[in-house]
Amino acid sequence: MKNSIRNKISYVFLALVLIILMSSCSNKEELSEFLKSENSFESPVREYGSEEVININAGNFLAYIVYPKGDLNELDKVCKNWANETLEKYRNEMDSTGANLVISYNSHIVEDKYVVVGFHGEYYEEGYAHPVSFVSSFNANRSTGELLSISDFLTDEEIDRLKEYVIKEKKLEKENVDEDILSNWRVAEGGIEIILEKGKYLPESEGTIKIFASFDMLKNGKENVGKNEKKKTIDTKELENIDKAIDKSQEVTKEKTQKYDKVIALTFDDGPGSSTARLLDILKKNNVKATFFVLGSQIDSQSDLLPRMIKEGHEIGGHSWTHRSFVYLSDEELIKEIMQTRAKISSLTGVDTLIVRPPYGAVDDRVQKIGKTLGVHFVNWDVDTLDWKTRDAQSTYKAIINEAKHGNIVLCHDIHSSTVDAMENVIKTLLDKGYHFVTVSELLNMREDKVKPGEVYFNLY
Ligand code: NI
Repeated sequence: MKNSIRNKISYVFLALVLIILMSSCSNKEELSEFLKSENSFESPVREYGSEEVININAGNFLAYIVYPKGDLNELDKVCKNWANETLEKYRNEMDSTGANLVISYNSHIVEDKYVVVGFHGEYYEEGYAHPVSFVSSFNANRSTGELLSISDFLTDEEIDRLKEYVIKEKKLEKENVDEDILSNWRVAEGGIEIILEKGKYLPESEGTIKIFASFDMLKNGKENVGKNEKKKTIDTKELENIDKAIDKSQEVTKEKTQKYDKVIALTFDDGPGSSTARLLDILKKNNVKATFFVLGSQIDSQSDLLPRMIKEGHEIGGHSWTHRSFVYLSDEELIKEIMQTRAKISSLTGVDTLIVRPPYGAVDDRVQKIGKTLGVHFVNWDVDTLDWKTRDAQSTYKAIINEAKHGNIVLCHDIHSSTVDAMENVIKTLLDKGYHFVTVSELLNMREDKVKPGEVYFNLY
C-alpha cells in the first residue's frame, strides 16, 4: 500500500516534470525555473518523522489525510488517533450526497527541544457555501517523547495573562470567549503561539489566526517581541515577466470552430464515476460531444474511460486532484492540484489539457495569476442544474431546458445516475430546438477574443 502510494507520487512527479519540459510554450524555461525555485512557494514544513497517508475514495466520500510518524511513540499515537477520529467524525456526520475531507500538517522542531505538530483540515459537503476549516496541535518533548501541556510552560497567572492578551489583541467580545480559547497552542521560539480556528471566535473572513506571545511578556510584562510569520508569496515582478511572455506567445490559438446558429456545451464534473460509461453510451448513440472535468483522485477507479472519451470526440479538463477549494490552498498545493491532474490525464490520453474547472467555481486574483503561469484557463458555467441537490432526472431536465440559450455552458455531474437518466431527453429536446452540442474549447474558440491563460470563462460571451 505504502509502496504503491510512493510509486504513484514519484510517477506523478515525473509526469509533472515531463509536462513542464515538453510544454510547447515558448517561455518553458522561465516556467520550469519558476516552478523549481523553492522560495516561490509556501511549502508545508515537515521537520519531524515521515508522512503517513490515509486515502479513502468511497463513492462520494473522498478523504486524503496526511499525518506524521517518527520516533516519538506518544506523539505518533495521538496524531494517528486524532486523524482517524476526525475521519470517523466527518464520515458519520455526512448527510448529503457528496463530501470531501483533506487534512495536512506542518511539523517543527523548536529550539532543538520540542516537536510541534500542527494539523489543518478542510471538510466540504455538497450544499455548503464554504468548506469548514479546523486545526489541531500537539506538542512533545523531543528527548523524553512526553506530550506537553501548556502548564508545562506557564503558571496559572501567566495562562490568564495569555488569555487576556489574545482577547485584547484580537478585540474579542469576552462573552464569546470560552474555555477552549487556548486549546490550540504551539510552543514556538521564545514564546507560545495560539491558533484561533477560522470562524470560531472571529468572522470567517478573518481566516485562521495565529497570535504569538513571548515568554518575556507573559512572565515579566515586557514588550511582546517575536517573530511575526510572513507569508511567502510569489514575487510579483517575476510573475509580470512571465505574464508578458505568455501574453505574447501563449494565447490559445486553435482554429476557429465552425459557426453554428445555436451551440451549447454540456459539462460533467467530479467523475469518472459508476454512471459515466452509461453516459458515454448515450452521447455516442446521439453523436453528441461533451466535456468532462475529471477529478484526479477518481481517475484510477475508471481509468479506461478517459481514452474512450477522447476517442469518441469529447474533451477532458481537470477539476483538481482532491476537490479542495483553490482559494484556500497554498501556491504549492494549488499548482500540485492542477498539474498532477493534468499529468494524469496526459499520461492516459496523450492530451495536455489546458482547461480547468475550479472546485465550487472558486477563483480569486492569486488563483488566476497561478493559472496564467501554468498556461491554463478556468471554465465555470452559466447554467447550474443543481443535479447534485435534486438528484431527480426530471428536475435536471427542466433546469437545462428552461434555461438553455445559445452559447451556454451547462454544469452537470456524471457521478449521479439521475443526471445520466436525464440526458436522453435533454439531448432529444435540444436537438429538436436546433442546438448543436460542442465541447468547451470549441465553444470558447467561437468567441470574438482569443482565449487567454488565467482568465475565467462562463459562456460564449
Ligand atoms: Ni465538483
